[in-house]
Amino acid sequence: MAERTYPFNTWYAVAWDYEIAEGRLLPRRICNKPLVFYRKKDGTAVAMDDACWHRLAPLSKGKVVNDNVVCPYHGLVFEPGGRCVHMPSQETINPSACVRTYPLVDRHRLCWVWMGDPALADPNLIPDLHWNDDPEWAGDGTTLHLKANYLLAVDNLMDLTHETFVHQGSIGNDAVAEAPFRTTHGPGTATVTRWILNQEPPAFWGEQLGKPGPVDRWQIIHFTAPSTIALDVGVAPAGTGAPEGDRSQGVNGYITFAITPETETTTHYFWAANRNFDIDNQSRTTIWREGVRKIFAQDEAILESQQQAIEANPDKTFYDLNIDAGGAWARRKVAEMIEAEQATMRRAV
Ligand code: FES
Ligand SMILES: [Fe+2]
Repeated sequence: MAERTYPFNTWYAVAWDYEIAEGRLLPRRICNKPLVFYRKKDGTAVAMDDACWHRLAPLSKGKVVNDNVVCPYHGLVFEPGGRCVHMPSQETINPSACVRTYPLVDRHRLCWVWMGDPALADPNLIPDLHWNDDPEWAGDGTTLHLKANYLLAVDNLMDLTHETFVHQGSIGNDAVAEAPFRTTHGPGTATVTRWILNQEPPAFWGEQLGKPGPVDRWQIIHFTAPSTIALDVGVAPAGTGAPEGDRSQGVNGYITFAITPETETTTHYFWAANRNFDIDNQSRTTIWREGVRKIFAQDEAILESQQQAIEANPDKTFYDLNIDAGGAWARRKVAEMIEAEQATMRRAV
């Protein structure tokens, strides 16, 4: 069997907050495990295995009654903690009758699940994506269902050189691939910083800035292992001090990504495009969202064909170039998380 590429002891985004609704069962596979989600009357979101204790019928095909889940097959009832509280035709309830539940937290417009050891599920470990719901920022996003391993999506975002080739005409131009970049890393994090100085902006950024002339453009990729990215992007008129920290003449966006393995070869890719200028303009919010959606459709096409080529060439391996430094650090941080988990499991047996 192929090795698992994702850790369990981490928070994964599983849905947008509005997707998990009171009284409605949402099935979704996370880390190759079928789960079911719903909200209680008090608004708290619940995650449990989507398989009944009795005969494994999917609970998501059942219903919610008074905050409890009723199995669609023989009517066993499970409370939000996963314990069975009703069995048909018998008064005593088998004390082992329960389904596993998972810590689930609402944060930054997303719901986050912890698939691993619940004793370690500290909500403070949820990565900072506050741009998604900060009143000083405006934006919106959606989900891409990607038929590719989640780390291919991380690789793609950790090296924006591909913009020149995959996104030529919108955000990509030759200047991106030619500009130098710097990679740094910390515990569980990696950052790639690229400044493209004194160049004509690509079409999208020229329109956002609304001023003619060359620009200083930045792309700062903040990665938190295993798969969350906050991408700080923008342009300012060339020479107005943006590289030194004065962005007041420019325009800034934060594109956030929470990338969750569905299986080893499919991914839930939650993204939002936020900006801190003209924030009351809903039309611009929609234009950004739709523009970014088109850009990510180009990534989707290349990543899915890459996944197919990987499966067709199981004897081949990847080679790393200079441009892969950020992605290589990201993969190393993920490998460290998986190794740490496996070491703990070995100690436990
Ligand atoms: S399978 Fe759920 S009650 Fe029988
Ligand atoms: Fe891209």
